[in-house]
Amino acid sequence: MAVTAPPSGQPDPENPLTEGLERLPVAPTTLVIFGATGDLAQRKLLPALYNLAHDGALPERFHLVGVARKERDHDDYRTECEEAIRRFSRRAPDAEVLGALLANVKYVPGTFDDPAVYASLSDVLDGFEQQAGEPLNRAFYLSTAPSFFPVIVGELGSSALAHHEHGDVRVIIEKPFGTTLQEARELNHSVLAIFKEAQVFRIDHYLGKETVQNMMAFRFANGMFEPLWNRNYIESVQITAAEELGIGSRADYYDSAGALRDLIQNHMLQLLCHVAMEPPVSFTAEEVRNEKVKVLQAVPMPTPEQIAQMAVHAQYGAGQSGGESVPGYLEEEGVPQGSTTETFAALRLEVDNWRWAGVPFYLRTGKRLARKITEIAVTLKPVPHLAFSQEGSLGVRPNQLVLTLQPNEGVSLSLGAKIPGTRMIIRPVNMQFQYGTAFLSQSPEAYERLITDAMRGDATLFTRNDEVEAQWRICDPIVSAWGDSREPLPSYAAGSQGPVEAEGLLRADDRWRAI
Ligand code: BG6
Repeated sequence: MAVTAPPSGQPDPENPLTEGLERLPVAPTTLVIFGATGDLAQRKLLPALYNLAHDGALPERFHLVGVARKERDHDDYRTECEEAIRRFSRRAPDAEVLGALLANVKYVPGTFDDPAVYASLSDVLDGFEQQAGEPLNRAFYLSTAPSFFPVIVGELGSSALAHHEHGDVRVIIEKPFGTTLQEARELNHSVLAIFKEAQVFRIDHYLGKETVQNMMAFRFANGMFEPLWNRNYIESVQITAAEELGIGSRADYYDSAGALRDLIQNHMLQLLCHVAMEPPVSFTAEEVRNEKVKVLQAVPMPTPEQIAQMAVHAQYGAGQSGGESVPGYLEEEGVPQGSTTETFAALRLEVDNWRWAGVPFYLRTGKRLARKITEIAVTLKPVPHLAFSQEGSLGVRPNQLVLTLQPNEGVSLSLGAKIPGTRMIIRPVNMQFQYGTAFLSQSPEAYERLITDAMRGDATLFTRNDEVEAQWRICDPIVSAWGDSREPLPSYAAGSQGPVEAEGLLRADDRWRAI
């Protein structure tokens, strides 16, 4: 049966499957975006706000304030917002909805360390409240270079903006949350000196993806998987986040990050947590995050000797992508000469607990690989005995459950089936569920869900302080071992499956899935 989904936050009265989907309304809020003219704000945040407005999912009283260094007046900024929305929104904007959203937008220019900026901001926020005749919640979104996070948080504290007598104040912090364990701890320390943990929303946009949330539904709303979901039946878990694109114009950021910090430390470890966590007692922020932290704590911190056996990094060279010749990483604009930043990283991790001991979790990510694919493949153990003839058994493969997060979101299960005919010959076939055909609706962008959750004060899909530190605990030793390494950095051709060295991580019977 085809199912259409209601706009976010609202039940669809025509559709029995959406009963009970009402969520708490979002209280009147002013959202302040620091870094308001930057790439993320333009490409993701403003379009997300437009789409929320379109779905009626913003509070009835909603204001937006952009803060950035560039000199602009309110009207210039409104025009800039409109252009960004027209360019990047998943829906063509409706003039009335767009007009109503932009009417409530203001801009404060200045540098993030200048107390005068916070004084102006405070006036704007007070002005909105006077106009509304009621206090408004405040959400500060830090969409800036990470070096400004402690600066902005400190200034919000000293300008008394971190507290509001009559409303809630929240701070939303973009990634990367630190570049080492030490930095993450220091940042947590600075943030938690001003805000309470319940006011802090650390973004990992993967958690806002429909398909990542669907993993919870898949595991905890279906009885059939739980008996199999352990070391007795599962041979290995393989998580891939491959990208076809290179680093584009982001050399500045990317060269100091690399693939491990950019994707594994946050997004991919979150995916691992979703596969490995125990069912939470309830879907509250604390219960869900408690279970995820336990998974991360069960991943042993690799010793320097182990790192060479369980981690591979590499950099792309020139090659073919989308039918065109593309340059190698070192020839990309803005990349320092001789950079040894990895654009590919693969790890073999273990989760040392009762459920998972001995099951390898393979994580692999890279830029300029053959195509864009994000998936989780769970391979079951082979059957203990094959009664078929040798010819019949040749095509028998262990069952594999694949959750595709993007593109073509869905779930598939491979099964062995007899090929029609007079002989008993078996080959794998796939049973498939696809989001696109099962629910005839467009999924909201991750940021739409995350922005409303943060304004609502629901931190379930955000990373807690101990969680982010537990992620760094796993990645930190690898980052520093790679930094100290004198071995030449392996390379792979752009558009390929990645470096051959990644094969070395696999156990004898395991194979990387084709990208
Ligand atoms: C971001 C990384 O967090 O995630 C980017 O900084 C990466 O380098 C992106 O391209 C991938 O996100 P998605 O949603 O396209 O899988």
